[in-house]
Amino acid sequence: MAKVNENYLKLPGSYLFSTIGKKVAAYQGANPDRKVIRLGIGDVTQPLVPAIIQAMHEAVDEMGKAETFHGYAPDLGYGFLREEIARSDYRERGCQVDADEIFVSDGAKSDCGNIQEIFSQDSRIAVCDPVYPVYVDSNVMAGRTGEYDKEREVWSNVIYMPCTAGNRFVPELPQECPDLIYLCNPNNPTGTTLTREQLKVWVDYANRTGAVILYDAAYEAYIAQKDVPHSIYEIEGARTCAVEFRSFSKNAGFTGVRLGFTVVPKDLWRDGVALHGLWARRHGTKFNGAPYIVQKAAMAVYSQEGKAQLKDQVAYYMNNARVIYEGLREAGYEVYGGVNAPYIWLRAQEGMSSWDFFDWLLEKANVVGTPGSGFGPSGEGYFRLTAFGTYESTVEAVERIRKLRRE
Ligand SMILES: Cc1ncc(COP(=O)(O)O)c(C=O)c1O
Repeated sequence: MAKVNENYLKLPGSYLFSTIGKKVAAYQGANPDRKVIRLGIGDVTQPLVPAIIQAMHEAVDEMGKAETFHGYAPDLGYGFLREEIARSDYRERGCQVDADEIFVSDGAKSDCGNIQEIFSQDSRIAVCDPVYPVYVDSNVMAGRTGEYDKEREVWSNVIYMPCTAGNRFVPELPQECPDLIYLCNPNNPTGTTLTREQLKVWVDYANRTGAVILYDAAYEAYIAQKDVPHSIYEIEGARTCAVEFRSFSKNAGFTGVRLGFTVVPKDLWRDGVALHGLWARRHGTKFNGAPYIVQKAAMAVYSQEGKAQLKDQVAYYMNNARVIYEGLREAGYEVYGGVNAPYIWLRAQEGMSSWDFFDWLLEKANVVGTPGSGFGPSGEGYFRLTAFGTYESTVEAVERIRKLRRE
């Protein structure tokens, strides 16, 4: 008889966003006349820009003619896109990354979740706390995280690196030595960043100890400050210790289109084996290539027109971030993030837990955010708002929260 993977049974029950969804649905059901503003889930709201739509239309037309039809895409991505990424995202920033070190995929979530497969079962992972949940849960499924402590909401075999206002959201080097270190920069959920200098500490540490950094740069397009690196390969030594994940979801609105890529440098070896070859094998065996139409659409992200249109789109969201950041700070909240990332991380109202604050905002201001504790124990007492709403709803949400604070 088939047996299930028991590791899945260890995953704690209710998923953050489904709990939020249920609470919002219950509130809306009981109060149908209230206009609830959702600044919770990190999904974009602006439509695809015209340059991307045009590229997609052209690719669709190609698919309709025998001479230009495309079947299975190359597993690792079309050469035209890999070349463009290597040139625009890396070489132009002074990073040495070759086209054949880029693995095109259907998004960063899959890659962040799948990467652990190429590492040994007994690898010890280290994550920032709070954390994007995929890093931990994918390792739970693989049986790497030990037992779950319900009280403390931590796994026995995971190294948690607290990131709070106390350390300015910069993780400290762990006491115990991890094998895999997940870093997300700019960070989801805190919206904070590591500077080049701060990231160099991690690159040096990984090279010294033999750990591998799994670097998630899904929010790279939102970086505004010069000392924040757009890629870990801007840091000397990163080619021998880091894998980088990128996404077209947040820079180009591809959350529903799906595309991302992972960089595995050929200089990254562990156990006498090049990780590049392992990931190529994994990707080629389990992934059948991202759609031609989508990869053509991604080319428009790098065109002159596309770049200009996307710059405006990112600026639109970052203006929302500014409205939230400044509005709440003026109202007396302790606010973080929002400068190089579309997330604002604020301290909940005095004396309230993250979930108390969630309920309070939902009921009194009809605004939905995400309780910080849902991202890890060090998120307790914090709250995340996203800048991905419309300008109008963002302004209204901030006004409602400010009013509530004054009451
Ligand atoms: C930190 C982080 N990594 C990865 C992803 C997923 O990106 P994608 O849409 O490319 O799967 C997200 C999405 O919200 C994210 O916040």
